[in-house]
Amino acid sequence: MEGTLAVVRGRLIESVAPANIRRTAHAFARVIVDVGTGDGRWLYRTARAHPEWFCLGLDAYAGMMREVSRRASRDPSRGGAPNLCFLRIAAETLPAGLEDLADHISILCPWGSLLRAVLVPDVPVLRGVARIGKPSALMEIRVNASAYRAAVGPDAGDATRLCRRLQPEYARAGIALTSCHTAATDPRTSWERRVRRRRHLVVVQILGLVLK
Ligand SMILES: C[S@@+](CC[C@H](N)C(=O)[O-])C[C@H]1O[C@@H](n2cnc3c(N)ncnc32)[C@H](O)[C@@H]1O
Repeated sequence: MEGTLAVVRGRLIESVAPANIRRTAHAFARVIVDVGTGDGRWLYRTARAHPEWFCLGLDAYAGMMREVSRRASRDPSRGGAPNLCFLRIAAETLPAGLEDLADHISILCPWGSLLRAVLVPDVPVLRGVARIGKPSALMEIRVNASAYRAAVGPDAGDATRLCRRLQPEYARAGIALTSCHTAATDPRTSWERRVRRRRHLVVVQILGLVLK
C-alpha cells in the first residue's frame, strides 16, 4: 500500500498521496529528482530556467528547504516555480508510488548516510533511489574531493579504481556505472559554493544509467 508523502511548503508540511506527485510529474516533458537537495537553491534555479521540467527535491531534513519552497509557491511573476516540489524524506525510506518518475537523478555533495550509501555503497538504499528513475535515467553523483577522502580514507585510490570497486555493487542496485572521474569545476550548488570559499572545488563525479 502507498503511504503519504510530506510536502514542504515554507513552514507547513502537507501530506500528499504519491499518486498526486505522479500525476503532476507526468504532465511535464522531463523530470529531475535531486536527492539530499539541502536548501534546494540549485533545483529552484533549474526549475525557473526550465518551466517545462518538473523538479522534485528530496531531503531527510525539512529545515533547509523551507525558504526556497516558500519562494517557489509565489506567483511565477514574483519568483514562483509551480514546477518545483520538495519532499521531506530520507533516501532509506522512499515509499512505493514514486517508481519510474525521473529522467535524471542527482545526488550532489551528499553527507552522512547518503554519502555512505553512494560510496560504501549501501545497495538497498541505492536500489530504492534507482527505482525512482525511468529506464536509462541518468544518475549523477558529485562528491567533493575532501568529503570523498574523509569517507573512503587515504587509500581511496583514483577514480578508475573507485569505478572498478563500485561497478558490481551499483549493478546489484540497478545502476549501470558509466564513468567515475575527478575534476576541478565551478560550483553548482550552495554546498559546492561553500567548499569553494575555502579551497578550489574538486569533485569526484560518478555517472550511471538506471537499469530496468
Ligand atoms: C552537504 S548537504 C548538500 C546539499 C545540496 N545537495 C547542496 O549541494 O547544496 C547534504 C544534504 O544531504 C541530506 N541527507 C543526508 N543524508 C540523507 C538521507 N539519508 N536521505 C536524504 N537526505 C539526506 C542532508 O540533510 C543535507 O541536506
